[in-house]
Amino acid sequence: MTTSSSAPLIRIIVGSVRPVRVGDQIADALAPLVAEASGARVEIVDLAAVGLPMLDEPRMPALGDYRNAHTAEWSRLISESDGVVFLTPQYNGGYPASLKNAIDFLFHEWKAKPALIVSYGGHGGGLSGAQLRGVLEFIGLDLVGGNVEITLPRDAYGPDWRLVSTDAIVAANEEQVSAGVRELGRRMRAQADARIDAEAAVA
Ligand SMILES: Cc1cc2nc3c(=O)[nH]c(=O)nc-3n(C[C@H](O)[C@H](O)[C@H](O)COP(=O)(O)O)c2cc1C
Repeated sequence: MTTSSSAPLIRIIVGSVRPVRVGDQIADALAPLVAEASGARVEIVDLAAVGLPMLDEPRMPALGDYRNAHTAEWSRLISESDGVVFLTPQYNGGYPASLKNAIDFLFHEWKAKPALIVSYGGHGGGLSGAQLRGVLEFIGLDLVGGNVEITLPRDAYGPDWRLVSTDAIVAANEEQVSAGVRELGRRMRAQADARIDAEAAVA
């Protein structure tokens, strides 16, 4: 599917930052599927590359009074996204500290943001996704109703602890991913329509 630069923008946030990980591989394989199912432009935001320190803003993020350039840049990335896919592994029954830290840096940027949660792990990372849902509901994102859960069997990993075939993993979950992304696209369009209506009412 071709998209124009005026198409809405979905950012896939890679929540794991380990030096040897699979989150980046899954994001790469998901991106074309997300673009196809949504008609949106898709960009991957890798928290390992964003490189946020542990939350170092002196003021509470809800005040929006950011002092650090890295916070302003992170704020820009989320603010200009029409929708977000949170891609999270499961670590010890929850989602990684790197993702919680990145979420906590901001506040208003997340409000009503259309978002889809995609978890992965040996059994689909369901506990991680559920825990993340609780936090994102508390903040007030516009969350797609069900999480996508990607199961990574032990034999999906090679001797280097990277995935042998991400295409096979994504293909096995294609229907679930596409359904979640289509719902994400509907929420993004509904918000865009509401903005147009609000602008027309003011004009
Ligand atoms: C600290 C840590 C804790 C983990 N805990 C779980 C777990 O609770 N359940 C599970 O199914 N897999 C668990 N795993 C396995 C991860 O799901 C698997 O390593 C996955 O590849 C992690 O994503 P990443 O490679 O992108 O970091 C854990 C892995 C790590 C590093």
